[in-house]
Amino acid sequence: MLTIALPKGRIADDALLLFKKVYATEFSFKNRKLIVECGGFKFLLVRSQDVPTYVMRAAADLGVCGKDVLLESGAQVTELLDLKFGRCKVALGMRKGESLAQPRPSIRVATKMVNTAKRFFASKAMAVEVIKLYGSIELAPLVGLADAIVDIVETGETMRENDLEMVEVIAESSARLFANRESFIENKREIIALREAIAGVL
Ligand code: PRP
Repeated sequence: MLTIALPKGRIADDALLLFKKVYATEFSFKNRKLIVECGGFKFLLVRSQDVPTYVMRAAADLGVCGKDVLLESGAQVTELLDLKFGRCKVALGMRKGESLAQPRPSIRVATKMVNTAKRFFASKAMAVEVIKLYGSIELAPLVGLADAIVDIVETGETMRENDLEMVEVIAESSARLFANRESFIENKREIIALREAIAGVL
């Protein structure tokens, strides 16, 4: 039986809806249960940022999470399919009118996505001080905690409402189906059949 790690929240709902369409069975997590067996699969409900860990360490054969989360985790997994939902951008944001061109010895960047931010500035050969936050990232430049942010942009509303603008898009993201590398080799037929079935209803 294949084990599939799904992230809590909207991506899990959308992913369960997909499995429902593919297998015409009812899937849902109830009563705070974190493991559900259904339609010949075992589903695990985990925190989005933890999905790559479950898959990379073979606690799950397959996982679904945003490409942004995969990039941040650096997990070595086999990406199988772009599920097309949960679309967003990972972007660099600054206060209106400001830009990276302004001279400063080092830029202070607030973010939840420390690895992504470090990689981005390394690719530009720019010195950066990364300040790890857990939420409300857009606040940091408004109160002088940071010069810029690296964050998820969905509608752009939060940046707009806080007088920030996107200076650069670092990555386009959407939900991805991916597999543990060894499990993919062992269960290739089953996993490819699942991928084909899901691709068919997308
Ligand atoms: C995310 C992200 C932005 C916002 C972007 O935050 O970190 O703040 O959504 O969405 P928008 O472009 O549609 O405005 P989330 O809602 O997860 O809350 P958090 O800041 O507390 O993490």
